[in-house]
Amino acid sequence: MKPTNSPKTYRVKSFGCQMNVYDGERMAEMLGERGIVPAPEGEDADLVVLNTCHIREKAAEKVYSDIGRLTKGKTQDKAPMIAVAGCVAQAEGEEIMARAPAVSMVVGPQAYHRLPEMLDKAVQGERATDTDMPAIAKFAALPERKRTNPASFLTVQEGCDKFCTYCVVPYTRGAEISRPYGDLVTEARKLVDAGAKEITLLGQNVSAWSGENDKGQAVGLAGLIRDLAKVDGLARIRYTTSHPADMDADLIAAHGEIDKLMPFLHLPVQAGSDRVLKAMNRSHTAESYLRLLERFRAARPDLALSGDFIVGFPGETDAEFEETLKLVDAVGYAQAFSFKYSPRPGTPAASMEGQVAKEVMDERLQRLQAALNRDQWAFNRATEGRTCEVLVERKGKHPGQWLGKTPWLQSAWFEGDVGIGDLVQVELVEAGPNSLAGRLRERVAA
Ligand code: SAH
Ligand code: SF4
Ligand code: F3S
Repeated sequence: MKPTNSPKTYRVKSFGCQMNVYDGERMAEMLGERGIVPAPEGEDADLVVLNTCHIREKAAEKVYSDIGRLTKGKTQDKAPMIAVAGCVAQAEGEEIMARAPAVSMVVGPQAYHRLPEMLDKAVQGERATDTDMPAIAKFAALPERKRTNPASFLTVQEGCDKFCTYCVVPYTRGAEISRPYGDLVTEARKLVDAGAKEITLLGQNVSAWSGENDKGQAVGLAGLIRDLAKVDGLARIRYTTSHPADMDADLIAAHGEIDKLMPFLHLPVQAGSDRVLKAMNRSHTAESYLRLLERFRAARPDLALSGDFIVGFPGETDAEFEETLKLVDAVGYAQAFSFKYSPRPGTPAASMEGQVAKEVMDERLQRLQAALNRDQWAFNRATEGRTCEVLVERKGKHPGQWLGKTPWLQSAWFEGDVGIGDLVQVELVEAGPNSLAGRLRERVAA
């Protein structure tokens, strides 16, 4: 590649989970430190960071179509500089370099603190790949948090040792690590200083977080939440994603004791058949999962539940799929994500016998989503008439309209004289399938 001018504007496109979004924000902060500014909406950027996701085939394919779109009909001096980051970069870095000459940088999710050095090389015309996995090093090398949204993310734990047989995450994110307690309290304070009212603690297995508090005592996620709840100005705490295997009594109790901990739990189950769960290498059964939820609901009766589901795991029969529907009926989720099984390179399930036909998966997904949508709407209807606190996150489509989140993570629309970041009391007037129309009652705090 030829040497080129230093980029003046950037755009980071994040395709994956909340942690991928968090990583995207941190990369943007680093580019900002270098004096590179976000490209104005609708204008081409000099540097595009494709922050990719490898979780399902469709997510991974996007990277190549995006590279095509960015470079189509453009000579090298007209095309933007391209960096591929995220989990596809980790899994397929060399392949990307070989297949897409327009890409100058490939950087994995544990190495993106080195993006500035790679950029210097790229300006000299040198292509660079960095997919090392130095545990934790990246966080220390990142700039301080200065800008944020009212609802912010904070990565507390990364990586996964669970090795569900369908999943690429243990390979793209590496082994489970917990960020140190002190660093997290500091970052949370900075986020609050920068305007955050709500922080969602992130981890691939966030409930496996462990550390040592400032008194030298061993603490788990519940202990961390208890201490973060003491941060002045922080109004709400959430955490995601948990694995049923790591939920301890302390965390369950925390839901009943800490007001700032929102009444919402995302706890993926994946399937309702014990045979399928075993083949997935999930360590729970349908029954043990339901019992666990009961304990959470006993601690916090208005808890809203969310989950993840996969239909058409290899070997899943019609009768086994019916057990997933049965479990859904038993739980009554407030919201959920559901996916067709996607074989991922290098995972054990990809070479299992009994791969399910696409049409069968389509039909199962439709039925499952119909049941989940039904329950989501029912949950929303059950909150009609309540007045609750809403955190204003953005402007709505119409002038004077605002969108915020209820404690149960529902989207609520309303009109009134408020601003982004305000916590307001809103009466939930009319429930739709995906959101609620509300009426502003009063402002709580600015
Ligand atoms: N660490 C989290 C999130 C993993 S990815 C957890 O354990 O739940 C988010 C969801 O994507 C998973 O819960 C699962 O439902 C889905 N998923 C993961 N691999 C998949 C695959 N190969 N095909 C389809 N869905 C998948
Ligand atoms: Fe993937 Fe399972 Fe780990 Fe979640 S717990 S990241 S689904 S391997
Ligand atoms: Fe995707 Fe990586 Fe997140 S594969 S779901 S971006 S951990």
